[in-house]
Amino acid sequence: MRKPLIAGNWKMHGDSPFVARYAAALADAGPSAGVEVLLLPPAPYVAPLAQALEAAGAGLQVALGVQNVHGEASGAFTGELSAEMARDLGAAWTLVGHSERRALFGETDEVVAGKLAAAARAGLAPMLCVGETLAEREAGSAEAVVRRQLRVVAGEAGPAVLASATVAYEPVWAIGTGRTATPGQAQAMHEVVRSEIETLCGADAAGRLRVLYGGSVKPDNAAALLAQPDIDGALVGGASLDADSFAAIVAAAGGAA
Ligand code: 13P
Repeated sequence: MRKPLIAGNWKMHGDSPFVARYAAALADAGPSAGVEVLLLPPAPYVAPLAQALEAAGAGLQVALGVQNVHGEASGAFTGELSAEMARDLGAAWTLVGHSERRALFGETDEVVAGKLAAAARAGLAPMLCVGETLAEREAGSAEAVVRRQLRVVAGEAGPAVLASATVAYEPVWAIGTGRTATPGQAQAMHEVVRSEIETLCGADAAGRLRVLYGGSVKPDNAAALLAQPDIDGALVGGASLDADSFAAIVAAAGGAA
């Protein structure tokens, strides 16, 4: 069975007082049995958040990661962070290929594949983000886009690296818009992801690999999404910035498990 994973992507939000308040509030909400919890703050806050969670007594309940890494281990890449450095700073996970990175920072499928391989080399667990834009969905190519995003990663980084990842399906039109995919729409795309993973990596890998849904997940829609058979968790943006909302989504995953 695939253990549900609820991940909070803070994006470029937060400061030191926020980190302290958040850790205390999350610890107060308590653990949720049978659910893995992951927080992805801006990279400089990984270590302070780890310390604050530890001090609040929630250190063991929450894994931490970063939102992006570079494809090289080191070099003349001003302003960048390597997977090795993220690991050294206490991150266990990294997002790879978030749609904001693809759209705003020009990350191609090939760049994303290089980052996924770098994360795996450094011992960081990669969460590969895939998903179509509104124009792609309206053109009827949502499925083809997501299959291509997975296929290029398998081709460039190798099927074993892809099989070791977690995938987050995040339709771009549902991110930060309040317009969530319906449970049926999300389930259909998660089936597409799993069938492509089966083609690329085999049936065992497809059965094991967790596929998270992301895009306007909130406490009031989480349970219906998480009840779908191929939705193994959530990648939460805006609602993860409120510790109580995030904890409510974690509790919904516990209920659906
Ligand atoms: P929202 O939950 O704010 O729509 O963001 C989703 C997302 O991009 C998480 O990575």
